[in-house]
Amino acid sequence: MSEKIYIFDTTLRDGEQSPGATMNTEEKKRLARQLDNLGVDVIEAGFPAASEGDFEAVKEISKVVENAQVAALCRASDADIDRGFEAIKGARYPRIHTFIATSDIHMQHKLGMSREEVIAAIKKSVSRAREYTHNVEFSAEDASRSDWDFLVQVVETAIDAGATTINIPDTVGYAQPEEFGDLIRYLKKNVKNIDNAILSVHCHNDLGLATANTLAGIRAGARQVEVTLCGIGERAGNTALEEVVMALHVRNSYYGFETNIKKELLYPACRLLSMIIGMPIPAYKAIIGGNAFAHEAGIHQHGVLKNRLTYEIMTPESIGRPPSELVLGKHSGRHACKQQLENLGYKLTPEQLDKVFKAVKDLADKKKQIFLEDLEALVLEEIYRIPDKYKLKYLCSISGNMAIPTATLKMEIDGMDEQISEFGVGPVDAVFNAISKLIGRQPKLVKFSINAITGGTDAQGEVTVILEEGNKTAIGRGSDPDIIVASAKAYINALNRLARKQEEKVWAKV
Ligand code: KIV
Ligand code: ZN
Repeated sequence: MSEKIYIFDTTLRDGEQSPGATMNTEEKKRLARQLDNLGVDVIEAGFPAASEGDFEAVKEISKVVENAQVAALCRASDADIDRGFEAIKGARYPRIHTFIATSDIHMQHKLGMSREEVIAAIKKSVSRAREYTHNVEFSAEDASRSDWDFLVQVVETAIDAGATTINIPDTVGYAQPEEFGDLIRYLKKNVKNIDNAILSVHCHNDLGLATANTLAGIRAGARQVEVTLCGIGERAGNTALEEVVMALHVRNSYYGFETNIKKELLYPACRLLSMIIGMPIPAYKAIIGGNAFAHEAGIHQHGVLKNRLTYEIMTPESIGRPPSELVLGKHSGRHACKQQLENLGYKLTPEQLDKVFKAVKDLADKKKQIFLEDLEALVLEEIYRIPDKYKLKYLCSISGNMAIPTATLKMEIDGMDEQISEFGVGPVDAVFNAISKLIGRQPKLVKFSINAITGGTDAQGEVTVILEEGNKTAIGRGSDPDIIVASAKAYINALNRLARKQEEKVWAKV
């Protein structure tokens, strides 16, 4: 029997700190359910002291997660810990995760605290957390740049005060695999009470070493890893969950560890995240990228045709990656639709299923073949759109080499219908001008990209835009067989996100 590695997922907290990856509460709940189904052991739901929105989201997530522990991140202060527990107290298995920086550079320049003051804060905050729950994690922020002997003292203090998990972050992605492994071994050897806690590692990817450092940490004695789907996170991101899980699985004879993760749900979980945050998965991304199982070189293709194992160390099916096949058509029924959605990991309520099924029928009138990717796009459009301040009701666009590109559209703005016609340099410009004028806002378009969701000239277009207004940016995503309509949907989606961000009051940042 292999020993178990606990998977602590922080997509909803550290992942959400990734530029442009903000999610609303509904989207977070959806992702939390998917992570729960995936089999992660802990879901870090957020940082409740950050804002009213974060607090509410953590509270709501706590209600929907059935199996995993739900963690709330808190700074080492009574106020944060009280607020944190208030948010997760409805969870089946709540965990308080408190942290403070322990490197000289952070203590001196960020906290303005001495080593003694930091030790006192650890004692106080972990003890406070223990008044609420036995499940307390302590993180020594910037551990990899901290003095090793001071870190021994820090970890000993946290365990004495009652921490049951000790997390060692490589906060700035500075560590090297062997060195990081040595640090974990040093702590295992020198912290007197180390056997009373589980050691955890949390790595950032600034030098592209997050997965390597995490695996080195496991080899050295860590039994919990902190990871995110697709590796999203601050700056260059965090350790990618799917990379660590598949490394442990494919190389089980080397590592000798197992996880609880249902590997066939890895791809659907990563796709769902990518759809929610509107960021496509890069083609070259390990495990889940579009090219991860594509064999281009003739010699590889030849080998794979004879025996897949010549060039494939795992199969696409093992991570739940279905071949892009026709799944539904004009005559498919509600049951077939439900079945396909469940295969993708979506368990919808009957009302949600009705909505998606109607959208499938509408799409099938325009496009004969509906692929898995189409189905996913419809779920996102119909179910996971954020509650809209601005809605598109009607759009007519004229363009051509002898026409002045014109857009006529009707929108619902805060419940009132309004309409307008506008010109532009091209049809997309005309649509964006019309929308901006109608709602009285002029955000800067920072990025516009368009992809065909599937093959074929009747494929749905998937448009992603990034808008900037003041010091806020937002991503929007829209899909439709008509690429001008898809562009309008993406633009309006980003405007809705911008509006939400502007309404939200931020109290604190990690
Ligand atoms: O990277 C880091 O140090 C963190 C901690 C707050 C755990 O995210
Ligand atoms: Zn982090």
